[in-house]
Amino acid sequence: MKEKYSKISPTAIFCARMRAKQNVPFAKEIVNLIDTKFKEYIEDLPDYGDTLNSKSDIIPFIEGRYYSLNESLSKVKNALIVEMASGLCPRSMEFLGKKDVFYVETELEGLINLKEKVLKEIIKKNGLNDKNLIFMSINPLEKEEMNKIGELYREKKKKQLIVIHEGLLMYFDKREKEIFRDNMKYLFEKYDKKGLWLTSDFSRIKKDNEVKGKENIRDKISKVTKRKFNYFKSEGETKEFLKKENFKSEIISNENVVKRLIIEKSLSSNKDDILESSKGYRVWKISLF
Ligand SMILES: C[S@@+](CC[C@H](N)C(=O)[O-])C[C@H]1O[C@@H](n2cnc3c(N)ncnc32)[C@H](O)[C@@H]1O
Repeated sequence: MKEKYSKISPTAIFCARMRAKQNVPFAKEIVNLIDTKFKEYIEDLPDYGDTLNSKSDIIPFIEGRYYSLNESLSKVKNALIVEMASGLCPRSMEFLGKKDVFYVETELEGLINLKEKVLKEIIKKNGLNDKNLIFMSINPLEKEEMNKIGELYREKKKKQLIVIHEGLLMYFDKREKEIFRDNMKYLFEKYDKKGLWLTSDFSRIKKDNEVKGKENIRDKISKVTKRKFNYFKSEGETKEFLKKENFKSEIISNENVVKRLIIEKSLSSNKDDILESSKGYRVWKISLF
C-alpha cells in the first residue's frame, strides 16, 4: 500500500522547486538542502521540460495556491492544524512559536522523515522555536490512521481541529476520494464535530478539451506516478459528493490574495490570465452539517 502511494512522492519535490522560484518563505532553503545535504534521500521527477523556466504558468499557480490556503488560516486561534500530504511545503514555519496553535506535518513515512530533517536544519540555523511543531506519518486512506490525529487532538486540548491539504486529491481516483472523504467524516464525528476541512483541491474542474499547458508537465508527472489526474466534472458534482456524507461546503474568494501577489511583482505574466486561473485554487471551507 505504502509503496503504491510513494510513487506520488516525487511530485512533492516538483512543488518545492516551483515555490523556490518565488518568494515563498524558506522555499529556497528547502530546495538548497535537498540538492546538497539530503540529496540521497530524494526521488525527483526525471524530466522537468521547461517548467522551471520563469515564464511557466505552473509557478504562479503553486505560489497562489500556497497563499490562498494561508489566507484561509489567517484568523485561526486555539487550534490543532493538521496538514495532510504536506510534502516539502514550508507552511508550518509560518506558525512556529504561535502559542495557541499546534501544527502537525503529515506525509507518507519516507517523506515525513526527510521533511523533519530538512525543517529541523533550518529551525536550528535560524534559532527558531519549534515547540508547537509535530511530525507524523499518516496515510489518510487508512481509517485507523485518523485515530492518531484524533488522539493527538484530545491530548493537546485545543478548541478546534483543522485539516488542510493541497495537491493531493487529484492523484486519487474516485474510489480513493470516497475513502478519503469517509475517513474525514469519521475523524470529525468522533473527535470534533465542529472541525474544519480546508483545501483548494476541489477547485480545479475537469475540462472536456483540456488544453495542455506549454510544458505538458502533467503527462510527465503521470508517467512517474502511474496515475492520471482525476478531477470532478463540476462544482455541483463536488458539492453532491461532499453532501452525501453530511458535509456542507462554501468556496472562499482568493481575489485579494491574487491581487496582492500581482502588485508585489512576484507574478509577472498576464494579470487577466492569472485572475482566471486563480479560480482553480480557491479554498473550499468544509464542515459537517
Ligand atoms: C503534489 S505533492 C503535494 C505536496 C504538498 N502538499 C505541496 O503542495 O508541496 C503530493 C503529495 O501527496 C503525498 N501522498 C500521496 N498519496 C498519499 C497518501 N496515500 N497518504 C499520504 N500522502 C500521500 C505524496 O507523498 C506527495 O508528497
